[in-house]
Amino acid sequence: MSTIDSVLQENRLFPPSEDFRIKANVSGMEGYNALCEKANNDYEGFWAELARDLISWKKPFQKVLNESNAPFFKWFEDGELNISYNCLDRHLDARGDKTAIIFEADDGTSKHVTYRQLHTQVCQFANALKAQGIKKGDRVVIYMPHSVEAVVAMQACARIGAIHSVVFGGFSAGALRDRIQDAAATLVITANEGVRGGKPVPLKAVVDEALGLEGSESIKHVIVYRRADHDNVAFKPGRDLWWHELTQNQPAQCEPEWTNAEDPLFILYTSGSTGKPKGIQHSIGGYLLGALVSMKWVFDYREGDVYWCTADVGWITGHSYVCYGPLAIGATQVVFEGVPTYPDASRFWSMIAKHKVTTFYTAPTAIRSLIKLGADLPKQHDLSSLRILGTVGEPINPEAWIWYYEVVGGSRCPIVDTWWQTETGANMIAPLPGAVATKPGSCTLPLPGIMADIVDEAGAPVDPGKGGALVIKRPWPSMVRTIWNDAERFKKTYFPEEFNGKLYLAGDSAHFDENGYIWIMGRIDDVLNVSGHRLGTMEIESALVANPLVAEAAVVGKPHEIKGEAVVAFVVLKQARPEGEEAKRIAKELREWVAHEIGKIAQPDEIRFGDNLPKTRSGKIMRRLLRVIAKGEEITQDVSTLENPAILDQLRHSAL
Ligand code: WTA
Repeated sequence: MSTIDSVLQENRLFPPSEDFRIKANVSGMEGYNALCEKANNDYEGFWAELARDLISWKKPFQKVLNESNAPFFKWFEDGELNISYNCLDRHLDARGDKTAIIFEADDGTSKHVTYRQLHTQVCQFANALKAQGIKKGDRVVIYMPHSVEAVVAMQACARIGAIHSVVFGGFSAGALRDRIQDAAATLVITANEGVRGGKPVPLKAVVDEALGLEGSESIKHVIVYRRADHDNVAFKPGRDLWWHELTQNQPAQCEPEWTNAEDPLFILYTSGSTGKPKGIQHSIGGYLLGALVSMKWVFDYREGDVYWCTADVGWITGHSYVCYGPLAIGATQVVFEGVPTYPDASRFWSMIAKHKVTTFYTAPTAIRSLIKLGADLPKQHDLSSLRILGTVGEPINPEAWIWYYEVVGGSRCPIVDTWWQTETGANMIAPLPGAVATKPGSCTLPLPGIMADIVDEAGAPVDPGKGGALVIKRPWPSMVRTIWNDAERFKKTYFPEEFNGKLYLAGDSAHFDENGYIWIMGRIDDVLNVSGHRLGTMEIESALVANPLVAEAAVVGKPHEIKGEAVVAFVVLKQARPEGEEAKRIAKELREWVAHEIGKIAQPDEIRFGDNLPKTRSGKIMRRLLRVIAKGEEITQDVSTLENPAILDQLRHSAL
């Protein structure tokens, strides 16, 4: 990793209003500092107290943190609980008739589901899963549209102790098969068809294709939710089952499986530096605590809030801030099936007005694209219900931040820029809105109890203004427990030897400013962040070289105004370098190929054909140079060590 000197760009400070501060769950910097001090003085006691206060335990824990087998840490290991009980049953007495989910469909119709109704649906579906032989520890793949039923499916798995692995509905059959195979799942839950932006999403057809591929033989059954009002999908007798038929006669009660706090809750695959996605494994107790604590502190949850996180359940944000966090704390939340631009670019704003949303959490990419499509549109809607705005997934540029703050939030709502990862389970660095003054573009300060730091190559803390690697110095409850099937890779990736195995390496570079605020600068590994989605460059490269036309490929990122980063692929074909119409045709074919191999989100924005790639004499591809070419910048580096310097000129002029 190279240490990068950075320029501080933003110094405007936005402290919370007096009124906000007084009412907040963590009030003022005194409140924040008091919590941090508690965590510093008695780390285990701090987390234990929160875990006792916020979680309903069947059997209370005695042990807090076990570090004896580091970095395989255990939290609350002798405690027993059920996460679905914590999300549903415990609210029934006081809030049974409260709306848990306001579901808005793509076509604009909406319905309210109460906590009691959701509980019934989860119990019935859990019973249906049991009837299919699913039991504690079994892996269930969920490939669903963003819906109440997706939440029900996840909660039902959790209720019976089965491990869910949700695969985002935009992933291809091949990507789905890879995840089924790695998890050795026995059941897939899907829908006949989804609908987004008025267009059908053929989920069941993709499942059928995945199950036809080698490696998915472990699947015994497919449960199909009838989202679209028709039966014209292929149905394999004995294997495929309709959701509504399985659940209709199931009892409305299902005793939760009393799981151990350290039992796995789910596996969620995410991209890393190598070709194969990693199965990030979370466990029940610590993960639930992370979700609850952040709902309380970062989203400052209070009774009466209407919470809306726009993330799909296919991503970690949809796990922690749709399926688990809001339900565990007893909130009313919006679940939206569609896209922000359908039927037009005011969909988010009209929905905030319609459902009187108080807390709105979305990605910078969505904000940037909505600014472009209609910066004045929010003004046409009554957004006065809003009190907190949030962002997640990628850095937000100060211009977009200011627009979000002024035009959407009416200069009244604190913006919580939340830094975290699939691996961290919950928000890690984010302003507590009634305490920490915000700065556009900075995720500000770590949550109390999160020991974040920025270090150099030797693991020593860096000075303000100097870039370094973002690390976490102490284990925290909601952290990843291991990589499914690959404990070695877990150790190597996150607790590398270069830091004596003691520091959690996030994979991001960052710097402190003179106020101790953290600024995230980007990934230090071969991971791209495109529209807030993590994509491994190697993953896209292996997809490209799997195409019979391709001899070699190298993928890099370049800055993109809306998406944050765009995918640029340098490709060498087995045949002579194509030009003109032929080059365009092959580029199109390769884009479609990547969509089919991984999913549309991984499609290269730009393809550049060359006779070769820039390589050192030892044959190593010089990615550094490819990044410069992709950005369209002049090459100022020394290229004398290159085997084939002439290739640079060719690649510079070949963008498609
Ligand atoms: C990036 C998403 C800047 C970061 C929750 C991280 C961010 C990766 C922020 C994790 C933020 C996430 N500011 N960058 N507020 N939040 N990132 O696993 O590079 O999909 O490592 O989790 O997104 O992406 P993941």
